Amino acid sequence: MRKKTSNTQNQARISEHPVITFNRGAEVTFYFEGKPLKGYLGDTIAAALVANGIKVFRYTEKRHRPRGFFCAVGKCSSCLMVVDGKPNTMVCMEPLREGVRVERQKGRGKI
Ligand code: FES
Repeated sequence: MRKKTSNTQNQARISEHPVITFNRGAEVTFYFEGKPLKGYLGDTIAAALVANGIKVFRYTEKRHRPRGFFCAVGKCSSCLMVVDGKPNTMVCMEPLREGVRVERQKGRGKI
């Protein structure tokens, strides 16, 4: 049975696992739509967002449907977000860094 941390900022993060050992990097602060959140070096941006309870990463262009973490290996485009002003960034493949600014993408994103 998995055990979750008690930290409210990391409610979805698994801290202990019977088979997998987690070697986390240093804690970093990043920003989601201006709000400071915590994550760890070695996380992808998508993993850090999900660990902080953020599940909607973008909205589709025509019907404005929410999209979030899906394949997690860079094959679908469900996780495209605006990262440091750059649209269409696959956050499931993008490493988390100190101070990175992440925003939900609406439609195709504007350059
Ligand atoms: S979740 Fe599929 S490309 Fe990122």
